[in-house]
Amino acid sequence: MAILLAGGAGYIGTHTAVEFLNAGYDVVIADNLYNSKAEAVRRVEKITGKAVSFYQIDVCDKAALQKLFSEQKIDTVVHFAGMKAVGESVAKPLMYYRNNLGATLTLLEVMKEFGCKRFVFSSSATVYGVQNPAPFCETMPRGECSNPYGWTKWMIEQFLMDVCVSDPEFSAVLLRYFNPIGAHESGLIGEDPQGVPNNIFPYITQVAVGRRPLLTVFGDDYDTPDGTCIRDYIHVVDLAKGHVAAVPYAEAHKGAEVINLGTGKGTSVLEIVHAFEHVNGVKVPHAIGPRRPGDIAVNYSSADKAEQLLGWKAERDIEDMCRDGYHWQTMNPMGYAEE
Ligand code: WQD
Repeated sequence: MAILLAGGAGYIGTHTAVEFLNAGYDVVIADNLYNSKAEAVRRVEKITGKAVSFYQIDVCDKAALQKLFSEQKIDTVVHFAGMKAVGESVAKPLMYYRNNLGATLTLLEVMKEFGCKRFVFSSSATVYGVQNPAPFCETMPRGECSNPYGWTKWMIEQFLMDVCVSDPEFSAVLLRYFNPIGAHESGLIGEDPQGVPNNIFPYITQVAVGRRPLLTVFGDDYDTPDGTCIRDYIHVVDLAKGHVAAVPYAEAHKGAEVINLGTGKGTSVLEIVHAFEHVNGVKVPHAIGPRRPGDIAVNYSSADKAEQLLGWKAERDIEDMCRDGYHWQTMNPMGYAEE
């Protein structure tokens, strides 16, 4: 029996593949390499010393997915396959809805055809919307998303809840990620965004290695202790382990369950910049700029439910995230591109 990681060649998928392999599972990755590299899968094999079955297919391609399911005995699907750039989703909403919703529908249809009834979904704290106050707790109603990317997560959560109502044997664990950063401690896999990073952490690491001159801090006039926004940064290896913990839970429980994957702690933009400089002994030149439209001041998780249901909690702190993320970037200044 194997775990299928749909979109498993990406940043979170590769780290999750390592943790599943280390826990003794067989891993199958399906990825169209739209936003990832085959080299990342080879690095997963190098870290673990184990083989991965890799299918370079688009999860929207039903025939290709049916072929995969007929060749592999898939027990559980972990679904990361999707586009994730917030700004791009505002400019190209139809592309986001077509891809993110279409991939999920195809996966669910093929799972139904092959009698596979366990699903772990890569959701996002973005579904809490702008109305809910932090800490975000799973009992809160979902809010209004501010962009199509967020709405795709919101809608896919709804698909899964509806599938669980229609089929009492189906289990879906909806993992709401906060802000995953850092890299595997080996420095062999890490985040490798295309073009100018949208997210703060890869921006910081690229400034630290001299790939970009300056980090702009988006606003220092928020109602927070130092005026900069607060987020719940979580080490990507901790996040990956949360997926491994979700599988026995899905085996033992039917129905849909929403679970936050965060640390429960908030860190400001300036705190993370200073922690990065301190732990790595490097300068991260930065300047204060205007606020970025759509940002909220404070966003962090309530992390209790994951500990209660999955027996999982984040163990790595901001210093670990900064050290491991810088290690990856110094070993791979241009990401996977040099290979
Ligand atoms: C974090 C903080 C910025 C860049 C987004 C998506 C979310 C999820 C994760 C994933 C904010 C500040 C950023 C920079 C800065 N999506 N910042 N200078 O916005 O919390 O979440 O990514 O696929 O759905 O919305 O993360 O890393 O973009 O920003 O000052 O150059 O860093 O203003 O306060 P965010 P982020």
